[in-house]
Amino acid sequence: MKRPEPRNEEIELKNNVYIESDTDPKGIITYANDYFAEISGYTPEELVGQPHNIVRHPDMPKILFKILWDRLKEGKNFIAAVKNLAKDGRYYWVFTDFETVRDAQGNITGYKAIRKKISHHVTDVLDPLYRKLTEIEKEGGMEASEKYLHQFLTEHGEDITVDNLLENIHRLY
Ligand SMILES: Cc1cc2nc3c(=O)[nH]c(=O)nc-3n(C[C@H](O)[C@H](O)[C@H](O)COP(=O)(O)O)c2cc1C
Repeated sequence: MKRPEPRNEEIELKNNVYIESDTDPKGIITYANDYFAEISGYTPEELVGQPHNIVRHPDMPKILFKILWDRLKEGKNFIAAVKNLAKDGRYYWVFTDFETVRDAQGNITGYKAIRKKISHHVTDVLDPLYRKLTEIEKEGGMEASEKYLHQFLTEHGEDITVDNLLENIHRLY
C-alpha cells in the first residue's frame, strides 16, 4: 500500500472515545474498532491483516517502537504518546496503553492498544523531542537516539524513565 504524504494538519479527537486495535504477536492488526477506522480514514477491512505500521508517522522515532516491542516481548505493558498518520496525510496524537494478551497457559497470543486524546501540553513537549530523536537516527542510528533520550531524561531528573515519562511530563517543561 502506498504511504500517504504527511501534511501538517491535525485531526481533532473526541473526548472519551477510544481508538482500539488488537494485533497478533507480530503486530498484524486483527481488530480495529469503528473510531480507529473513522480517524485513520481506512475501513476496518483495509486495516485488518495489515502491519500496524500502516499508521506510522515519519516523525516518530524508531527508538520508541524498539522500547515498545522490548517491553511487550517481556510481557510488560507500556504507555506512550504516539503521533499517527491518517490515510489523507493528516496526523493525530494519542495517549496509548499497550497491553499483552495471554491464553490460559500464560502464553502471549497478541497485543491490544487503547488510545485516547492527549493534551497539547504533552504533545508540545514531545513533538520537538521525537523530531530531534528522528533527526539523530538519520545520522547516527538508534544507538545514538537511545543515548540522547536517556541523557535528556536524566537531565530532567534521575528518576524519569521512558516508562514513567507521561506521568512526569510536567517536569520536562
Ligand atoms: C497493539 C499494537 C498497537 C500498535 N499501534 C501502533 C500505532 O498506533 N501507531 C504506530 O505507529 N505503531 C503502532 N504499533 C507499532 C507497530 O507495530 C510498529 O512497530 C511501528 O509502527 C514501527 O514500524 P516499523 O517497525 O515498521 O518501523 C503498535 C503495535 C502493537 C503491538
